[in-house]
Amino acid sequence: MSSTTPTPPQPSVARMYDLYLGGDFATPTDRAAVEAVAKAMPDCFALCRENRSFLRRAVRYMISQGVTQFIDLGSGLPTQNNTHEVAQAAYPGAKVVYVDMDEAVRDLGTKLLAADGSTRIICADVRDPAAVLANPELRGLIDFRKPVGVLLMCVACFFTDAEIGSIMGTIRNALPAGSFIAATHDTFDGKRDEVETVRRVEEVYSQTPIPIYFRGKDSVARIFEELQLVEPGLVMLHEWHVELDDNAPEASNWLYGAVGRWDGGKAAPKRARSASVSSVGRVWKLASGLPRTLVSIAGYYVRSAYAHLKPVGNMKRF
Ligand SMILES: C[S@@+](CC[C@H](N)C(=O)[O-])C[C@H]1O[C@@H](n2cnc3c(N)ncnc32)[C@H](O)[C@@H]1O
Repeated sequence: MSSTTPTPPQPSVARMYDLYLGGDFATPTDRAAVEAVAKAMPDCFALCRENRSFLRRAVRYMISQGVTQFIDLGSGLPTQNNTHEVAQAAYPGAKVVYVDMDEAVRDLGTKLLAADGSTRIICADVRDPAAVLANPELRGLIDFRKPVGVLLMCVACFFTDAEIGSIMGTIRNALPAGSFIAATHDTFDGKRDEVETVRRVEEVYSQTPIPIYFRGKDSVARIFEELQLVEPGLVMLHEWHVELDDNAPEASNWLYGAVGRWDGGKAAPKRARSASVSSVGRVWKLASGLPRTLVSIAGYYVRSAYAHLKPVGNMKRF
């Protein structure tokens, strides 16, 4: 190819994901890629809705544990039901830094969030986590002396096996004790008879700048090494505290998810304390029927009432 031949455009993973969710920022190239995925995997749209529901539940859980600042790694386009909206509905003033390597996220997101001083968007590659965490924009908003909630929703599926351990280790070690990491990941475990589906979806994503990987539970569990998992542990998304969201999502069985607590590297308690999240869920359910100001007040009481609760489960059991 001569140096003057234009490079054919690649589909953008961020815009594809926005299209699955009903957004309208996709280019014809993105649309073609989404159509190819949908042909192979018709429930790709349900998968994305389920993923967003898990994000809402994880953020609400973390707020109930006293977390008021979040780093959303591989955030995607901030167009619908975003992390800062979910967080600030429960805790007004909650801070959120969105990080994505796709420039479209920064360009569009900066316009969408410009008026809100408690959110920032930075364009960076999570595969260089030290640089992301040292970013002055991020450090200007996130106070690393206080617990941080880190989200990686459908993002580690874009890391290679060789990258997962070191990326997660760097992130974990930068966080103060009491921080949480929530993550979801594509899996074929619930779809053992759909090998061809997985192959075709991986093939479509191989045309994007970042190939996708479906993984089994043991490989996904590496994301949460050294963390104490909140009950019920690493499970299919529909098995993780659906009571923390208003609408129980459809079960796609394509995604694992978990929330893990970082204790700063101290020995993890062996014994799980059940009921903790279920109780938060009941209070949340109650509060979500109230007007916004009352929800904020309810949020305060949820945080106060459950501040003492520890997450449960020890990652090492996987
Ligand atoms: C499937 S979308 C998920 C978006 C969002 N986390 C959610 O679950 O709603 C994956 C996003 O992660 C971003 N991404 C993937 N690998 C990344 C990396 N190494 N660094 C930064 N962003 C990344 C993509 O650009 C895309 O926006």
